[in-house]
Amino acid sequence: ESHLLEEQILKGKNVLISAGPTREIIDPVRFLSNRSSGKMGFALAEVAAHFGANVTLIAGPVHEHIQHPNIHRIDVVSAEDMYHAMHKYYPTQDIVIKAAAVADYRPKVVHKQKMKKQEGELVLEMVRTQDILQSLGEKKQQQFLVGFAAETTNVIENGLKKLKAKNLDAIVVNDVSEQGAGFASDTNKVTYINRDEHLEKIPLASKREIAKEILRRISRDLEDEFK
Ligand code: CTP
Ligand code: CA
Repeated sequence: ESHLLEEQILKGKNVLISAGPTREIIDPVRFLSNRSSGKMGFALAEVAAHFGANVTLIAGPVHEHIQHPNIHRIDVVSAEDMYHAMHKYYPTQDIVIKAAAVADYRPKVVHKQKMKKQEGELVLEMVRTQDILQSLGEKKQQQFLVGFAAETTNVIENGLKKLKAKNLDAIVVNDVSEQGAGFASDTNKVTYINRDEHLEKIPLASKREIAKEILRRISRDLEDEFK
């Protein structure tokens, strides 16, 4: 009976999902980014839409395609663009999932002209981007807020810290050092942790299957909150 849960609960819900990397511009021909493919976030959007949710998908630069009447896709480039897009749609959401791999730093200056090489070393000065998820956690009202954490060491411990620090309702922890998990892979293996610090391992499966398992748990926890 629990397999019917997400179909009933997600129907008509507003779900905001961010996916993919961000790109931080250095000059007209160069940028800094990361290895995120956007596949996990896109799978979440597809499955949520399939279960009848109204999905808003904020996507960084990715090669993924998506076509569903319930999905409204907005493409962004930088962490700053993603910040504004997320906050624009945030107030009316029931569920917010931050699967994007947001850059933690951006170059302090964006050069208007292509940089010419010089003798010796180059030092690029970087400044912190805003933590989008943290800012959403601070403004949280009715939203069930879910973060992702990409870790290579002390995976669970670091995930729990992020859950608390960012005022999340759940966090999906990803061990990106493991085979078949994370980034460009078509499969993933994660641990879902909710506010009660209840740990649930979701074994290696396709990102679509993982998306189903994550949404099933979000639906369950969202339902429990209103009991
Ligand atoms: N995140 C965000 N804005 C940022 C950085 C991260 O919204 N500027 C979000 C990510 O989308 C993810 C969560 O925060 O849902 C955790 O990202 P992660 O990179 O694992 O953690 P950080 O808090 O950035 O810490 P660190 O990279 O130092 O481990
Ligand atoms: Ca980070």
